[in-house]
Amino acid sequence: MEAIILHDWAALAIRWVHVVTAIAWIGSSFYFIALDLGLQKAPGLPDKAHGEEWQVHGGGFYHITKYLVAPERLPEHLTWFKWESYSTWLSGVAMLMVLYWAQSELYLIDPAKLALAPWGAMLISALSLGVGWVIYDRLCKSRLGENPTTLMLLLFVLLVAMAWGYDQVFTGRAALLHLGAFTATIMTANVAMIIIPNQRIVVADLKAGRTPDPRYGKIAKLRSTHNNYLTLPVVFLMLSNHYPLVFASRWNWLIAALVFLMGVTIRHFFNTMHARKPAPWWTWGATVALFLAAAWLSAQGTQRLDDDGTALTTAEARLVGDAHFDEVRDIVLGRCSMCHAAEPGWPGIATAPKRVVLETDAQIARHAREIFLQAGLTDAMPPANVSFIEPQERALLRAWFDSAGRG
Ligand code: HEC
Repeated sequence: MEAIILHDWAALAIRWVHVVTAIAWIGSSFYFIALDLGLQKAPGLPDKAHGEEWQVHGGGFYHITKYLVAPERLPEHLTWFKWESYSTWLSGVAMLMVLYWAQSELYLIDPAKLALAPWGAMLISALSLGVGWVIYDRLCKSRLGENPTTLMLLLFVLLVAMAWGYDQVFTGRAALLHLGAFTATIMTANVAMIIIPNQRIVVADLKAGRTPDPRYGKIAKLRSTHNNYLTLPVVFLMLSNHYPLVFASRWNWLIAALVFLMGVTIRHFFNTMHARKPAPWWTWGATVALFLAAAWLSAQGTQRLDDDGTALTTAEARLVGDAHFDEVRDIVLGRCSMCHAAEPGWPGIATAPKRVVLETDAQIARHAREIFLQAGLTDAMPPANVSFIEPQERALLRAWFDSAGRG
């Protein structure tokens, strides 16, 4: 079988695993958060039990009791919840490699932003994912850790800063995907580096007959609450690369900021409901407002810096509206665009030379002066006249600039 077919099926298999493990992880996370909030005190609870809940599912009734800190004795068999999270992260990284690293020139690098070499882009991609965790973990462990609201706000600022930062470096599509991976890395690291190790300390204490310190459980609970508020935005960001209005629009990073807020408003509704408090219906009003704001932002211009879809300036409109323009466009598309494109077709030219992209009317108008200098007044371009521009075509470029470009 052809390698290309196997590669495609491998990519599908990884995606399949990733989606399934993510469902398992988020499903169990939602389940436990709801369970926790629904726990109730009841007479006759065993010693050290914090609360209980009755549930009905799949043909039977469940009577669940939560022991805060720990039960008196360690039961023989304990079910841990960690592989859901780890396998989601591992399969996610595999997908990042297959799609964004292996095809970095298509999906990761945007020469109009930063003309990175593939290895440089991969290095930034890999390192940036871990950095978020380091910063976040320091924040949690600092004195701010005692103030959950400030902590949440700082986490939000960090995420928005990252959204903006990624957008300066990568394609819009890769920027939002990396933001999702950055956030998910924090979530998995919370499980792997804090929640599970703390739980292990408690288990070890119980085995050794020591009284476990309640501090460990509290820390784990805070991290798990952060994870809860981050789940919905991460899923949105992972899906966003199917929607150009989100990732390829100019304010994609601001849209991401609104999505993080929506994650909070939606979760707040369900968390309050599960705690059996009056339903905060206002959160849906806030969610819809945020959603509409995101939709509106998505129509305020496109990504590409060179041709950002914003209205032409008067000077540019004059250049595009000029009588020579149709012919100018033909000349540029025929003699220049094979190299000066977002994805150049000329062998050996990987990215638009000097970040000059000449593909759309707006781009041609924006570079009118340089076109005039490089190909009209002089024969600097095309290099060695590789694309055989004719003298009368150069004359036309000059005439165009003379009539519409000066002034
Ligand atoms: C074979 C590929 C190729 C073609 C075709 C080509 N260019 Fe270029 N262009 C280049 C390269 C390479 C550079 C960078 C040159 C350098 O190193 O300074 C460049 C640079 C430029 C620059 C920036 C110059 C500067 O120093 O800022 C402009 C403007 C430009 N080209 C316009 C054009 C125009 C207009 C055409 C068509 C008439 C054209 N080019 C055709 C490869 C090409």
